[in-house]
Amino acid sequence: MKKKTIQDFNQMVANDEKITYITAYDYLTAKYVERAGMDMILVGDSLGMVQYGYENTFAVTMDDMIRHTAAVRRGAPNTFIVGDMPYMSYQPCDEDAIRNAGRFISEGKADCIKLEGAGELILSRIKAINDAGVLVMGHIGLTPQFAGQLGGFKAQGRTGDAAVKLVKQALAVEAAGACSMLIEGVPAIVGREIAKRVNIPALGIGAGSFTHGQILICADMLGMYDDFIPKFAKRYTNIGEQMQKAFEEYAKEIREVKFPNDAEHAYKITDEESDKFMELLEKEGI
Ligand code: KIV
Repeated sequence: MKKKTIQDFNQMVANDEKITYITAYDYLTAKYVERAGMDMILVGDSLGMVQYGYENTFAVTMDDMIRHTAAVRRGAPNTFIVGDMPYMSYQPCDEDAIRNAGRFISEGKADCIKLEGAGELILSRIKAINDAGVLVMGHIGLTPQFAGQLGGFKAQGRTGDAAVKLVKQALAVEAAGACSMLIEGVPAIVGREIAKRVNIPALGIGAGSFTHGQILICADMLGMYDDFIPKFAKRYTNIGEQMQKAFEEYAKEIREVKFPNDAEHAYKITDEESDKFMELLEKEGI
């Protein structure tokens, strides 16, 4: 399987083919994602919640992100990987933003970085990182790192004025140099009108079916994360319940001495060595 490039994604949009995208944070998950033939992986800062159990993404550090991005790359050597820039890794200044974006590429072996927002400051960061040679995916709509200003984790663009503002933000993100964008938590009509107007892949999460592709958080779609289930998070299976069942069965078998079954799960010793062993124990009085 050949790793897709941003040119391939542009071609997919031109051909009206949807781009498939999912988050992953670890080696094993990335391996199965690649085997499934997904187009892109996001190592999202949502790992703060689904891997570390934080309430939000604010405590995630660059070192956390690099460690997980590198693990995902080892599991998915042939998949386009996007590293998500954590809180305050790009906001302070263009230089920090470039340096941290560069770490995703050189240490994490990512292909692209993602950052949130579309204000003047963020547009400057997108331009700076892109000018430094790193592919940038924008992220507009419900942007968790701006949750305080947005009044919480709420769908955005639900009035005519707010929807127009989002379309303008999408165009500004593209003009600043982003190679693609993620639109989160907006009405389907807003996702549709943005996707129609931009010339870069516009991928959605909770942004309706008209965007050029879709992403879900893997712990949501696998049915593993139940602290909070967003409206748009379709569950394709119930791995959480299956895990719990397996752990219960395992504990039961340990308690009932059904596991391990020595005929199947234990190492063997010849009868001769076994007799010798018992004789020696007796002889040495231990
Ligand atoms: O961090 C993340 O997982 C995200 C989601 C919106 C996909 O940005």
